[in-house]
Amino acid sequence: MKLFADTANLDEIRELASWGIIDGVTTNPSLAAREGRNFAELIADICEIVDGPISAEVVALDAEGMLREARLLAQIHDNVVIKIPIGVEGLKAVTALSEEGIPTNVTLIFSANQALLAAKAGATFVSPFMGRIDDVGGSGVEVVADIVQIFDNYALDTEVLAASIRHSLHVLESARVGAHVATLPLKVFRKLLAHPQTDLGMASFMADWETVGDGGNVEKVVSEFLQKR
Ligand code: G3P
Repeated sequence: MKLFADTANLDEIRELASWGIIDGVTTNPSLAAREGRNFAELIADICEIVDGPISAEVVALDAEGMLREARLLAQIHDNVVIKIPIGVEGLKAVTALSEEGIPTNVTLIFSANQALLAAKAGATFVSPFMGRIDDVGGSGVEVVADIVQIFDNYALDTEVLAASIRHSLHVLESARVGAHVATLPLKVFRKLLAHPQTDLGMASFMADWETVGDGGNVEKVVSEFLQKR
């Protein structure tokens, strides 16, 4: 499963890029506005940090406006993917952009039917919002699973990008049901790594190693060994 960073914060993106585990970045108007920067420069900077799909969302509400914004955003970098909200105007825009070879990520998806329409229009990615579905008492994982199943049934090559990921279970569930991508904020990446048994194990290893005394300086001991060899 590909993992994208769901943030527009360059420091967070650089941190995650240094871990060597992210394949792309998703932004949205809220995440971008939070940075208080020139939008085009922000997207360009993100493209310089991560060599993968970088989602930049249009804010026009009509198809023609979406297309004007999309065609400009796509010129920032080859990796820019245009985020388009699902809806009649969004479908019109995705259809046109698909014909022009401009990749799209259809967002604010809350049902498998919405995802099916987006795929029919030629979307590159669809973004079902797992967390926000759960927030209103639905089952985000079931919606993702339905989308994956439907796309498999009809060999639709649109990728399912699980979004609105709130915790580690969402990531596990997304992988389990076969989502192609999960996009998550830095705090969730940290949750993926954390486990109390890992911390306990490290503490135990270090406590036992302390008993080795001077011989515990690995750099010193191995350097001396190599010099004598
Ligand atoms: O960026 C799209 C999606 O991941 C937003 O998630 O946390 O605002 O529901 P959230």
